[in-house]
Amino acid sequence: MGLTKHYGDKVAVDGLTFTVRPGIVTGFLGPNGAGKSTTMRMVLGLDNPTAGSVRIYGRHYRQLKDPLRYVGALLDAKAMHGGRSAANHLLCLARSNGIPRTRVDEVLHLVGLTSVAHKRSKGFSLGMGQRLGIAAALLGDPRILMFDEPVNGLDPEGIHWIRHLMKNLAAQGRTVFVSSHLMSEMALTAEHLVVIGQGRLLADTSMAEFIRQNSRSYVRLRSPDRERLLDVLHRAGIRAAARRGGALEVDGVPAERLGELAAAQQVVLHELSPQQASLEEAFMQLTAGAVEYHAHAGGRPVPGRGMPPRPVVPERALSGGAPPGGWGAGWQRKRS
Ligand SMILES: Nc1ncnc2c1ncn2[C@@H]1O[C@H](COP(=O)(O)OP(=O)(O)OP(=O)(O)O)[C@@H](O)[C@H]1O
Ligand SMILES: [Mg+2]
Repeated sequence: MGLTKHYGDKVAVDGLTFTVRPGIVTGFLGPNGAGKSTTMRMVLGLDNPTAGSVRIYGRHYRQLKDPLRYVGALLDAKAMHGGRSAANHLLCLARSNGIPRTRVDEVLHLVGLTSVAHKRSKGFSLGMGQRLGIAAALLGDPRILMFDEPVNGLDPEGIHWIRHLMKNLAAQGRTVFVSSHLMSEMALTAEHLVVIGQGRLLADTSMAEFIRQNSRSYVRLRSPDRERLLDVLHRAGIRAAARRGGALEVDGVPAERLGELAAAQQVVLHELSPQQASLEEAFMQLTAGAVEYHAHAGGRPVPGRGMPPRPVVPERALSGGAPPGGWGAGWQRKRS
């Protein structure tokens, strides 16, 4: 509620109010520096809000007894004791949260780290670190899960696995809140979106509605008799834009009507396809004014306020090969 965070003069989060609901995956989007990680840290009580508050089951995170049983989170995958083994790291977390040690093996298996369970996490690759972070989040079998860029560093199979894991967790009635810059992945995973820019709420809506509201939809037509088709459209008062390769694009007229018009005049169509913009296009459209760190094609970079310039929507490097120890097939819920 009215969540606000200032770092000196910098307003990182600015009066955010939203509720993340159970049963669906909610995507948390925003350009670099928008305030996503700061918001997530405030949920976990790792940062104190300048104003406003975050409640989990009506309580502050710090008031929760054995918090890992309520909220599991992956924030910074490197935030662990590098000298400890994966199993030891999880065991320490389990002990301090009243979680049985058998659960440690379960989550290690789930994330595919069983074979390196006793290796020091210092030598882990980026993707292995992410997996360990996810194991920690799942440890307490919590009803609320929060992941900050969980697919960062995961190989394609890992990304696929994460997508199904999140959907399964949500299908079990859990609350799943996840940030990512991989728009194509987010489009497949999230049902609802919370979008922020420069700390402020830009959208809190369903995925379908978000794309519909923030992008252009049109119909693409192709005909071997393009001139006649143009003529038919023109006489019906419909404007068509010519595109390369002979295609025509029409805005604001349903495909059904265009098909019927062409049929009535016996114009052969080779294509009649409604086009919907991607989540990425819709996101760029909505956040265009809220991007702080612009990248430039070549030339001298222009630094954004005190920070090195970063790409608007960075392509996360995918690293690593197949995971050691194979994959957990998905989230099997076991109550111990
Ligand atoms: N500890 C801090 N001290 C000062 N400024 C900070 C601190 N943490 C974050 N900020 C600033 O707050 C703003 C929001 O940062 P935050 O990390 O929450 O963004 P983000 O949405 O997670 O971005 P990204 O997509 O790059 O992860 C940024 O401008 C950042 O520079
Ligand atoms: Mg962040």
